[in-house]
Amino acid sequence: MKSFLLLVILLMEGSEAPSKMKGCLNGWIEFICGYNNTSITKYHMIDVVTPKETLQSTQRDEWENKGRWFLYHDTTNQHLRVIFKQLQREDFGKQQCKFHTDSVSAPEITELELDMDDDNCQHTTFNHTTYTTAQTTILCTDKGNRVRFFCKDNGFICEDILSTTVKSNGSFSLTDNNSGFNMSISDVSSQDAGVYWCGVKPNQGNYRAALQRIQLEVQNISVIKRSSAVGQTLTYWCSYPEDAPVNKFICKGEDPYVCEQLVNISTNMKTGKLSIEDDREERNITVTVRNLTAEDTGTYWCGAGTSDEKRRNQLFNKLVLTVAGSQLAAVTATVVRVAALVVVNILILFYTCSKIRRNRREKQKSWDRGYAEVQDPPRRPSQELQ
Ligand SMILES: *[C@@H]1O[C@H](CO)[C@@H](O)[C@H](O)[C@H]1NC(C)=O
Ligand SMILES: *[C@@H]1O[C@H](CO)[C@@H](O)[C@H](O)[C@H]1NC(C)=O
Ligand SMILES: *[C@@H]1O[C@H](CO)[C@@H](O)[C@H](O)[C@H]1NC(C)=O
Ligand SMILES: *[C@@H]1O[C@H](CO)[C@@H](O)[C@H](O)[C@H]1NC(C)=O
Ligand SMILES: *[C@@H]1O[C@H](CO)[C@@H](O)[C@H](O)[C@H]1NC(C)=O
Ligand SMILES: *[C@@H]1O[C@H](CO)[C@@H](O)[C@H](O)[C@H]1NC(C)=O
Ligand SMILES: *[C@@H]1O[C@H](CO)[C@@H](O)[C@H](O)[C@H]1NC(C)=O
Ligand SMILES: *[C@@H]1O[C@H](CO)[C@@H](O)[C@H](O)[C@H]1NC(C)=O
Ligand SMILES: *[C@@H]1O[C@H](CO)[C@@H](O)[C@H](O)[C@H]1NC(C)=O
Ligand SMILES: *[C@@H]1O[C@H](CO)[C@@H](O)[C@H](O)[C@H]1NC(C)=O
Repeated sequence: MKSFLLLVILLMEGSEAPSKMKGCLNGWIEFICGYNNTSITKYHMIDVVTPKETLQSTQRDEWENKGRWFLYHDTTNQHLRVIFKQLQREDFGKQQCKFHTDSVSAPEITELELDMDDDNCQHTTFNHTTYTTAQTTILCTDKGNRVRFFCKDNGFICEDILSTTVKSNGSFSLTDNNSGFNMSISDVSSQDAGVYWCGVKPNQGNYRAALQRIQLEVQNISVIKRSSAVGQTLTYWCSYPEDAPVNKFICKGEDPYVCEQLVNISTNMKTGKLSIEDDREERNITVTVRNLTAEDTGTYWCGAGTSDEKRRNQLFNKLVLTVAGSQLAAVTATVVRVAALVVVNILILFYTCSKIRRNRREKQKSWDRGYAEVQDPPRRPSQELQ
């Protein structure tokens, strides 16, 4: 009888449309199970019932780890915070939080539905390699109209970095459009290595879900800084490891993976603007840039690639080149400007001097003339006071 009543209550409770959530296989979901009965601040136990298993939270105001689950019964905000990691196919479906006051009375139940986000879960995990001081961009696809975010995994929780409501924090920035969103890091350092997730927070519902896992690997690269003048020839070299791919190249741009290839072994011309020479015995590439112009200022990467799409290019060093041509021009311009100013000043001075001289002469004349004129009109009182 009792269990029948319980079932009726459950059915009644369950008749309310459960909140819908969407997640990805191998991703995670973080949600909140709220309870409505605020007169009960001390539920002594909470069951989380998933299609696969039942977990129990008995602690208050502290995290409890149950395998892929993390539970936090927050008595201040009166809810259970749930993190569910490495989602598997069997985890999708109805999720329930049962808030028990005691072992006898019927629990308060919050029901949620977890579905697969079929439209947006294509490549849930990938590796991304970049280099210190480089600029790099991590791409995520998402067609939904909702808040998107990037966070960094600290092994337990994913710490927010950026979202469509906070698009920049200095060196990290997020851009988005209808088909996806990006996170760019402008000056990568070795501390930026780690696991990042991109995900979404739907406008309705108390949850956030991860779409893709990005393992960012940061390799150290040596940076050469050179300043040169217009018209000069610059030579530098980069050495490479034994297992480097055959096709050596030089490309220009802040992001080594989208930078423009200026020259490679197959297009190499010894007398061109840019040429490379590969000494395979010494594993040393000598790079020559001729007839430098101000436009050559920028960032260059020396690397090697294969035709194999899956193997990314390897990079060996970075050159930051400043061609002082523009500065030289600026200096010349300043010199010209200063010279012109001096000439103008001399002319003005000359003119003023001659004018003063002329004025003095004219004053002399008008004085002679005025003497007669001034005498005629009656003087104004103010002038008399002086
Ligand atoms: C809240 O809990 C109290 C104590 O168990 C109970 O008397 C009351 O009926 C509950 N209220 C609701 C709306 O469930
Ligand atoms: C709490 O109230 C909301 C809105 O009235 C309802 O949708 C939800 O199902 C309730 N939860 C529980 C556990 O009764
Ligand atoms: C990513 O790199 C790790 C090692 O850092 C490797 O074990 C894993 O297989 C790589 N994953 C992919 C998809 O390449
Ligand atoms: C931006 O976020 C990253 C990742 O959390 C962090 O390492 C960096 O220090 C933040 N930058 C600023 C200026 O706060
Ligand atoms: C993401 O970055 C890539 C390359 O940097 C760019 O082509 C693409 O348009 C960007 N996408 C968005 C949504 O900003
Ligand atoms: C939107 O982003 C996608 C993927 O990042 C990119 O390919 C596309 O060019 C972007 N479209 C616009 C209009 O920026
Ligand atoms: C890269 O350099 C940093 C500091 O210069 C160092 O702490 C780190 O171990 C280096 N990493 C590798 C892979 O060599
Ligand atoms: C070599 O560079 C040219 C352009 O300079 C480019 O069209 C070609 O695809 C490059 N070759 C390889 C193997 O990357
Ligand atoms: C590479 O070649 C240049 C000359 O082309 C030479 O000065 C330099 O020492 C060489 N570097 C190595 C590591 O062999
Ligand atoms: C470099 O400039 C000189 C003089 O302007 C010109 O004769 C020469 O052909 C140029 N060389 C290259 C490789 O462009």
